Formats: sequence, C-alpha cells, structure tokens
Amino acid sequence: MAVGQVLLVLLAASTVSATKDLLLNVCMDAKHHKSKPGPEGLLHGQCSPWKDNACCTANTSSEAHRDQSYLYSFNWNHCGVMPPKCKRHFIQDTCLYECSPNLGPWIDKADSSWRRERILHVPLCKEDCEEWWEDCKDSVTCKENWHKGWNWATGTNRCPWGSMCRPFSHVFPQPADLCEKIWSNSYKYTTEHRGSGRCIQMWFDPAQGNPNVLVAKHYAWKKRSSPARMKNVTPAETGKAVCALPWPALVPLPLALLMLP
Ligand SMILES: *[C@@H]1O[C@H](CO)[C@@H](O)[C@H](O)[C@H]1NC(C)=O
Repeated sequence: MAVGQVLLVLLAASTVSATKDLLLNVCMDAKHHKSKPGPEGLLHGQCSPWKDNACCTANTSSEAHRDQSYLYSFNWNHCGVMPPKCKRHFIQDTCLYECSPNLGPWIDKADSSWRRERILHVPLCKEDCEEWWEDCKDSVTCKENWHKGWNWATGTNRCPWGSMCRPFSHVFPQPADLCEKIWSNSYKYTTEHRGSGRCIQMWFDPAQGNPNVLVAKHYAWKKRSSPARMKNVTPAETGKAVCALPWPALVPLPLALLMLP
C-alpha cells in the first residue's frame, strides 16, 4: 500500500475516534449510577428493558419499584396512596433515570450535595408524557417541583407547611407542566412521536432494541455541529443545524489530501 493510502486510513481512524464522543453510551456521575454502562442480566420488572446495557445495578432496579426505597427515601404517597396506574410511570421514570446509558447529550452539572451531575431538558416523546399525565391526573400531590421544598424532618418527604393536597390536574394543568416542572426541567415536553428517533422513550419494547441509542446519536451529532446553539433553539434553527457537518469530520480531509504522493 502506498504511504499516502496508509496515512489516509490512519487519519480516517483518528477521525472516527475523535468523533466517538463522550456523550454516547455513558452514565452520569450521580448517587447510584455505575461508572460505565454494561450488561445487567437480572434487572427487575419495569427496568428489565435496559438489561443488555445499563447504568443501574440489579439492586437499584429492584429498589426503583419500592415505596420509600433506599435510593432516595422518596414517598410517592405524600397525599394518600398513589394509584398503581400512576405509580408505574414514576417507576418507569426512575428506571430511565437510573438505567439509561443514552442520556449523555443532556447531562449537566448539578448544584446539589448528593450528585455531581443531573439531566436537563431530555426531549421526552409526546406519548410518554401524555400517558403519564393521563394516568396521574386524578392522583393527588401538594407540590409542583418534587426536587425541592419538602419537609424531610422525618427522613422521608412530607408536604411542607401550608401546602395543600390537590389533584395533579390542578397542580399540572397540561402534560408539559407535569413532565417539565416535576423534576426541575430534567425533561422537555416535545411533539415528537415514539419511534421517530427524535425523542427519548421512557417505555420501549426491548425485542426491537433500545430506540434511545439512535436518539442520543442524533442529538450528540447535532450538539457537536453547533454546541453554542443547543440551548433555546427554535425549530427553524435546529433544522439548519442538522444540515451542518460536525467540524471534526472535516479537519483531516485537507490534511490527508496534502499528504498524498
Ligand atoms: C440493595 O442494597 C441496599 C444497600 O446495600 C440494601 O439495604 C437493600 O436491601 C438492597 N435491596 C435489594 C432489593 O436487594
């Protein structure tokens, strides 16, 4: 093989590794996450779709199904018992948060004592958000943001003084209010549909593989091609960003051409 061709191959390889980025197949640095994803054959119940590649351990997946589990001592039943049809969405939300290795593009610094990283603005599929809201609209809660402001005096969260227990449909008038506000913007409501490759699915059938792998790739690529524009971009702008090639892919080309004999 000519020297030029060898160099081309080397450069192509280095481009691939340079663009194989830190946003894909990663676990966030938080309370219970593994340091990196891998197979977990014994994931429990609703977390089992992630068993081929997960950031959670089997223990975490079991705990995700328990009330006031050792994970966060969080009490779903702070305004009376949360009905199972609603609770299953919170279990699934916990499974996604703890187990998904595909949230890299939305990992952000967290300003809290119990975790270094959090997720911010994960684009949740319309159906996942709307079904969550639909199944919970008659459940009852006293707070809009479940991340802060609780009374933790007893070791589990209780409604703070002066807050009233009201139906979800009052606290969260629209599905977007629930998905976005409950965990301080961890999720973003979208009009993208399940299976579109443009939104993260909380629920999926593992028989067809994990659909969020491609979604993360799409957004990681978009973020590389216009990192500064990821925040608050309008739909028209994101359309343009998609057409731009990520710059690391372009750098080696002129170099490679120069080195040809
Ligand atoms: C998970 O691990 C914790 C801490 O070691 C333990 O207290 C808990 O009982 C375990 N849960 C399950 C379901 O095994």
